[in-house]
Amino acid sequence: YQLLPRDKSKPPLVWHWIPIFGSAAAYGQDPIKFFLDCRDKYGNVFSFILLGRRVTVALGPDGNNFIMGGKHTVMSAEDAYTHLTTPVFGKDVVYDCPNELLMEQKKFVKYGLRNDNFRAYVGMIEDEVLQFMNKDSSFRAYQMNDINEWGSFDVLHAISEITILTASRTLQGKEVRDALDKTYAQVYADLDGGFTPLHWLFPHLPLPSYRKRDAAHKKMSQFYIDIIQKRRESGNQSEVDMIAALMDQKYRNGKILQDHEIAHIMIALLMAGQHTSSATGSWILLHLADKPEVAEALYQEQVKHFRQPDGSWRSMQYEEIRELPVLDCVIRETLRMHPPIHSIMRKARSDVPVPRTLAAPSEDGTYVVPQGDILLSSAAVSQVDPLLWRNSFEWDPTRWNDPEGVAQQAYKQYDDANGQKVDFGFGLVSKGTESPYQPFGAGRHRCIGEQFAYLQLSTVLATLIRRVELRLDHPVPGPNYQTMIILPKTPRNILYRRREFD
Ligand code: HEM
Repeated sequence: YQLLPRDKSKPPLVWHWIPIFGSAAAYGQDPIKFFLDCRDKYGNVFSFILLGRRVTVALGPDGNNFIMGGKHTVMSAEDAYTHLTTPVFGKDVVYDCPNELLMEQKKFVKYGLRNDNFRAYVGMIEDEVLQFMNKDSSFRAYQMNDINEWGSFDVLHAISEITILTASRTLQGKEVRDALDKTYAQVYADLDGGFTPLHWLFPHLPLPSYRKRDAAHKKMSQFYIDIIQKRRESGNQSEVDMIAALMDQKYRNGKILQDHEIAHIMIALLMAGQHTSSATGSWILLHLADKPEVAEALYQEQVKHFRQPDGSWRSMQYEEIRELPVLDCVIRETLRMHPPIHSIMRKARSDVPVPRTLAAPSEDGTYVVPQGDILLSSAAVSQVDPLLWRNSFEWDPTRWNDPEGVAQQAYKQYDDANGQKVDFGFGLVSKGTESPYQPFGAGRHRCIGEQFAYLQLSTVLATLIRRVELRLDHPVPGPNYQTMIILPKTPRNILYRRREFD
């Protein structure tokens, strides 16, 4: 032991067989199990080797707080992500610019995500879902108008289509929606093929997916620039989409947002929203099909609020959506068990001391995360942590209605023992960086798409559940962690039958 001294100030390193490969297999296979197993052995803070990189993980609400609440000058998102995102999104936006500019860009986007626009979106989304159900071959049994006929659809396929149709009709704008059936779909697919964990691990490889990604980025960027220029030439100012919101925005230093910057922000929003929302929508439908009693409660909630005396359905108003507790709890609980992003990364720009309340090597020692380490936060762990949640691996939307049931007793003890103040109010978990519930992240880089995602998911779900019953003839599939976003494995076919009243 003395011959092999270990730097006591670095967090413990997860033991591994193969030097450079490190713990890549265990992490890639099932990061949640890997992290929970490591916590048993090493505590809340530990490092592991991932294909030559050192990654330091901080778990639990305190670990979330350490990383999500960390100073951006010390823990940099752009240093951790830019090699993946810049070839896809493009130059001068998001992680390819100083963080202060990203903050301004997020403000510009927020302007496009205002309630006035959202009010117009509900009807558009409903319309797209109905068109899809009336056209797509997977909904043939529904189209036959026979209430005894069961059909089935691959949920990820159907919800991915619905997500891009509805996002393009609303946020992305009518030119994108019109191009969807033409060239846009292939360009999007090529761009998406360049946005994978492989591309994060290896920014440059002589593989076709890298070449296709670069070509697709150029085409996509030009596509948006053309839209902007045409709108400007024609004086079109009547759209309620994001392109309209971004045109003519100015940075604080007086510089106008350039056309290529608008184009690149549009690509970033497309990539940020497409898989996250389609994964969440898919998991929601799988759980509803698995628990018909919850689907029935959701349907009855729709009947109570929106069924008119003549049997037809009234559209939801944007403001009403937030007042539907079953719908809200179903989405919330799905995001607890299936947050689309399992690893949030930052890069240490200097040595970072770990707070002693989070982890320490000895009574008077301190861990220091060395400069250059990737820092990893995983709300996907704290959201299913058996120490924090009752029946943590069970999908149970009712937990959000029960002020005593949200947090497990053990969590309160933990809370008391550490003197930490975590706001577990009725049906709500604090939005702070210390919260165990962070499907949309927290702190400076928190998601700005949350309200849009809720609006989109709620409207898609309500439109479907009003018209079809759902069942599963296999268990809810397990998660596939090998994609950027946690997706359901196959088989993931949902059985459906048209409801009597429609
Ligand atoms: C950031 C989740 C939908 C735009 C984030 C982050 C998470 C997240 C966890 C934090 C990333 C980090 O700290 O590194 C989700 C989930 C979604 C969703 C679960 C849907 C269910 C959307 C949509 C949009 C969007 C629809 C756009 C319309 C963004 C943006 C950021 C972000 C711009 C900020 C990145 C930054 O500041 O570094 N999202 N997102 N997201 N998301 Fe979302």
